[in-house]
Amino acid sequence: MTKILIATEKPFSKHAVAEVKKVFNTAGYEVRLLEKYQDKNALLEAVADVHGLIIRSDVIDSEVLGAAKELKIVVRAGAGYDNVDLKVADERDVVVMNTPGQNSNAVAELAFGMLIFLNRNGFNGTSGTELRGKTLGIHAYGYVGRIVAHIAKGLGMKVFAFDPFVDKVVIENDGVTWMDTVEALYSECQYVSLHIPANEHTRGSVNEALLSKMPAGATLVNTARKEVIDEASLLTIMAEREDFRYLSDIAPDCKVELEEKYPERCFFTPKKMGAQTAEANLNAGVAAAKQIVGFLEEGDETFKVN
Ligand code: 3PG
Repeated sequence: MTKILIATEKPFSKHAVAEVKKVFNTAGYEVRLLEKYQDKNALLEAVADVHGLIIRSDVIDSEVLGAAKELKIVVRAGAGYDNVDLKVADERDVVVMNTPGQNSNAVAELAFGMLIFLNRNGFNGTSGTELRGKTLGIHAYGYVGRIVAHIAKGLGMKVFAFDPFVDKVVIENDGVTWMDTVEALYSECQYVSLHIPANEHTRGSVNEALLSKMPAGATLVNTARKEVIDEASLLTIMAEREDFRYLSDIAPDCKVELEEKYPERCFFTPKKMGAQTAEANLNAGVAAAKQIVGFLEEGDETFKVN
């Protein structure tokens, strides 16, 4: 019998899990659930005899892949797959997929939730600022970036975007100003929302040279990955510019220092929660389940990333 493991240190909603199970039960598969595990050994044991695996930000490294002797497919229920060792997966003939777009709305909404929270001084009753009329730069115009643009326009912001992989016409058709360089984006925009993946080209790429270009009242909101920020640059810019603010759904390594020194100018969610909504759990979880069944039954490799 085909065995599937849903391994989510940060669990899906109960309803999403039930719907994911239905997809596998209909296919005649056995489903196991490993949630909130504290210890990697629990994951190593649980993967031993499964053929398919659904994960979120759970780390699937060479040790896990080595322990998963029967594994044929891993689906990262979400967008970023920097938590999976693609090279080792390739070597072991394990297909890796993601579920692009399925949790994007949740992430985009969180970016604005954090911006409004900071602009209103943590809802402490003091006078804050509004987003209407301000400039917003979208750094990477993928699924999340597009929804961010749509929401920002609804809020009356002036919206700009930079993405070397997206045609100018796609950006302009959304009523967004296309920027030809990343430097131009940061120079123009008081607010910048980050949506780049973490890979060998982007790690540490948001650095002092870029951040120092931002105009007065600069606010960077990161719902992407902490690794894309050069943290030494972040510490420098926060120290040098009293107007610079940083919000992130993924706490930086220098979180404690930033929170101690600049409590009014930064905010970090206690746990990554951009995609943590009932809707995103359901969409990404069910998409992942259907992709596993499609691959194991029909060899459908749509959304394969390795
Ligand atoms: C993603 O890449 O899809 C998001 O970062 C969500 O990650 P999560 O599933 O761990 O919440």
